[in-house]
Amino acid sequence: MRISEDIIMEIKYKNPIEEVISPYVTLKRAGRNLNGLCPFHNEKTPSFTVYPDTASFYCFGCGAGGDAFTFIKRIENLDYVEAVKKLAEQSGITIPEGDYDDSYLKLKNRIYEVNRETARYFNKYLFTPNGKWALDYLIQRGLSVDTINHFGLGCAPDGWDNLLKHLKSKGFSLNEMEQANVITKNSRGGYYDRFRNRTMFPIIEINGKVIGFSGRRHPDEDRGGKYINTSDTPVYKKSKSLFGFNFAKNCCSERLLIVEGNMDVVSLHQAGFENTIGTLGTAFTDEQARLLARYTKEVVLSFDSDAAGQKAASRAIATLSGSGLSVRVLSIPDGKDPDEFIKKNGRERFEGLLKGATNEIEYRLLRAAEGLNMETNDGKARYLNRVATELSLVKDAIAVDLYAGRVADKYGVSKEILIKKAEELRKKSFKAERKKEVREILRPSYKSGELVPEERTNLRGVKAEKEIISVLMAHPDLFSRLRTFTAEEFISALNKRVFISLKEVVEKYGRFDISFLGDEFSPEETGYIASLQNREVTFANPVQSLTESITTLREEKNNHDVSQGESTVSWEEQMRRIIEKKKESSK
Ligand code: UTP
Ligand code: MN
Repeated sequence: MRISEDIIMEIKYKNPIEEVISPYVTLKRAGRNLNGLCPFHNEKTPSFTVYPDTASFYCFGCGAGGDAFTFIKRIENLDYVEAVKKLAEQSGITIPEGDYDDSYLKLKNRIYEVNRETARYFNKYLFTPNGKWALDYLIQRGLSVDTINHFGLGCAPDGWDNLLKHLKSKGFSLNEMEQANVITKNSRGGYYDRFRNRTMFPIIEINGKVIGFSGRRHPDEDRGGKYINTSDTPVYKKSKSLFGFNFAKNCCSERLLIVEGNMDVVSLHQAGFENTIGTLGTAFTDEQARLLARYTKEVVLSFDSDAAGQKAASRAIATLSGSGLSVRVLSIPDGKDPDEFIKKNGRERFEGLLKGATNEIEYRLLRAAEGLNMETNDGKARYLNRVATELSLVKDAIAVDLYAGRVADKYGVSKEILIKKAEELRKKSFKAERKKEVREILRPSYKSGELVPEERTNLRGVKAEKEIISVLMAHPDLFSRLRTFTAEEFISALNKRVFISLKEVVEKYGRFDISFLGDEFSPEETGYIASLQNREVTFANPVQSLTESITTLREEKNNHDVSQGESTVSWEEQMRRIIEKKKESSK
């Protein structure tokens, strides 16, 4: 069951695509369309295009595309029905009850309820005699009862089914508990509590809902992971979640402090650094970085000073600065984590570290000397090369001058040579990058290679298919001209599906709109469809384009059927043949 098309169109009408997208992307007008930096991948030159005429968007860089619903769905991490509801609400439209299938939505709400009840249960248990060990542990680690309750920390009982029984008594089903990942199935088909004998940290979403848990093992226990976390569920995605963000997001407009440990987050909040968040033990993803970039301008990383922590920091720097955030690194003396440091030295000294936190470049310049023997000429030369490479990434000339000066002073080399070398490298890499981006833009079908694998063995045929679909999208009345042509004549599976759906939509509504497809196609396929709908071609003579493309497709299909056995010819060989053919036909 789907939401009725009338409602969909009304919602769409009241939410012009550019208005839906502009809170998330700075758009500049370019003729009829608008351009901006794609929010779904990192780029420096805009390849994200919004087409008001067709109420759709498409990114030439990553292939993302679709309508207003697709956009909201992706950027807000919602499912289709939720995205439709969100835009409906924004424009004061009520969707009639029973007009859509909301069973998944209902399950998600039940999972939120399971999580809330579980958090409450663990927190209560912390203050019982059996949970006292965890309370003592948290207090011994310097937390106040206020902080413990602010974060809703708790204790998971020792035993196999305490939580399970409790949730059952509250009316939750085994399926709901399993979907929430608070219980696990054993090999005999029975269930047991996932978190046992652990100190519990609820993970809370920005809007205040509990989405999962992180549990630290008993201090006397050394078996099992030190921390175990909720696995992905319909409401929890590891790659998108951060610990403490629900509290931090209210005070992070300027800067956020990122640490590795849950305990670090809690103790820094208690010390007044409420803009601290934790990574939950995973490498930073682009998704997390983009989420942060919506809330803050600058991040300060304070990772453990062990090798693993520093490696994670280096990677995080790359990911975070890729999303346009400015990054600084705070390194804590004597290999301590922030929690230990603050307990030993107090908040003022931590504040001092924070003020003196080196920025990304300084950090890299310091690290560039690692593993090199600076006593030797060879070591020095290699260091300076690395420094020049780092400096080549810096856009601000004053900063380059400053850092080059510092390094030059330190190692007694010429600042000018360093700057010159950096400049050379910068030009080189800029050119290479531009080339790469231009290449990607010039090849709008580069993503479709994965979606339409047939393109690799029959480029010309698939191109004709795309033409047919594009013409028909723009001129749906031409369907009446198709007498003998059927979907069976398509070479590629995806284009065939698109054609069939397009035909159905046009038969039903007399025109094509990407929103009529609902969520029948995957996000990638939807992007592809948006690209077909918005191809930069104006059909001077649509009828002619259509007939010619059909002829080409038939030719190719025949050729292809004859040369079935040869379908493994390389793409290059295909290109060669096409060029030959072209030459012949122009003779
Ligand atoms: P650490 O091992 O540095 O622990 O892991 P910690 O935070 O200092 O632990 P405490 O202070 O002894 O309590 C850093 C973070 O990595 C994740 C957790 O989120 C942890 O806080 N982690 C660590 C896991 O998810 N699983 C593990 O087994 C270990
Ligand atoms: Mn620690």
